[in-house]
Amino acid sequence: MRVLLIGANGMLGKDIVQEWQDDELIPATSRDADIRNYEQVERLITATRPEWILLTAAYTDVDGSERDPEAAFAVNGKGTENVAGVAQKYGAKVFYISTDYVFDGQGKRPYEPADPIAPINVYGESKARGEQAIQASLRDWCIVRTSWLFGASGSSFPEKILRAAETRPELSVVSDQVGSPTYTRDLAVAIRGLVHADARGFVSVTNSGTCSWFEFAQEILRQAGKNNPVKPIDTVQAARAATRPAYSVLSPAALHTFGITVRHWREALPPYLAELRNMGKLT
Ligand SMILES: NC(=O)c1ccc[n+]([C@@H]2O[C@H](COP(=O)([O-])OP(=O)(O)OC[C@H]3O[C@@H](n4cnc5c(N)ncnc54)[C@H](OP(=O)(O)O)[C@@H]3O)[C@@H](O)[C@H]2O)c1
Repeated sequence: MRVLLIGANGMLGKDIVQEWQDDELIPATSRDADIRNYEQVERLITATRPEWILLTAAYTDVDGSERDPEAAFAVNGKGTENVAGVAQKYGAKVFYISTDYVFDGQGKRPYEPADPIAPINVYGESKARGEQAIQASLRDWCIVRTSWLFGASGSSFPEKILRAAETRPELSVVSDQVGSPTYTRDLAVAIRGLVHADARGFVSVTNSGTCSWFEFAQEILRQAGKNNPVKPIDTVQAARAATRPAYSVLSPAALHTFGITVRHWREALPPYLAELRNMGKLT
């Protein structure tokens, strides 16, 4: 099977490249095609003729999206529409990576794929636009929603916490947002399984287990052998540019129908921390 990965240079993209040992995975970065440019996307797709296009490329700066909505919509909206349009023209299926931020976070139980989306920040709106473009242009698509990614190939929340712990005796972390952290290597393996299963429709993939950012930070520090105290603060005190959903746990029910399960986020921290150590990012 020939799979074109658009976004191979990103945190998730790099782990997909490493975890995808079989098939013919063709990694593409923004140097191969800027997805905002239809002609560049068409050139890449006609040169590679994939069966599946795996689209992980995105504008992922959540607070930056509030300051520069045009940048977010250009990549996550129009860029996704370009990929979907070219894919439909050449008969390729698209596997799109989306986010828990398409939901408003007012839910009281894990979000199912059919629950109504209602993004509360620009990034979420732009990813929702991407989801709509995929559904409108294509017959054959799979949209995977995921959340709170962490991986050694990028700079994610755990690395920021560990870096902050080096200079600050006490850390303050938000305790009123709840979700599921997701190790990008585990996500990469699940995505490969879904592509092999020729999955269609909406599927949510996260590590199992839920926590607040505060609880996540405490566990990261504990497992890394650091004893900085962590103080819980609320979202208002954190004063971020983008509003974030208070509750964004995604239901694994659709994933389980493919016989795929993902370990608890707590169990994913040791291999992640080992990766950081191997890369010299953690002593
Ligand atoms: N990070 C999270 O917590 C999170 C949570 C839920 C969902 N997601 C979704 O998961 C996916 C992967 O996220 P990530 O954190 O791994 O992303 P990331 O590390 O920020 O990487 C995104 C990649 O997108 C590429 N890109 C940006 N603009 C582009 C353009 N105009 N044309 C082509 N490529 C472009 C960049 O490519 P180059 O490096 O080649 O320039 C970059 O490597 C995204 O779809 C994101 O929305 C992320």
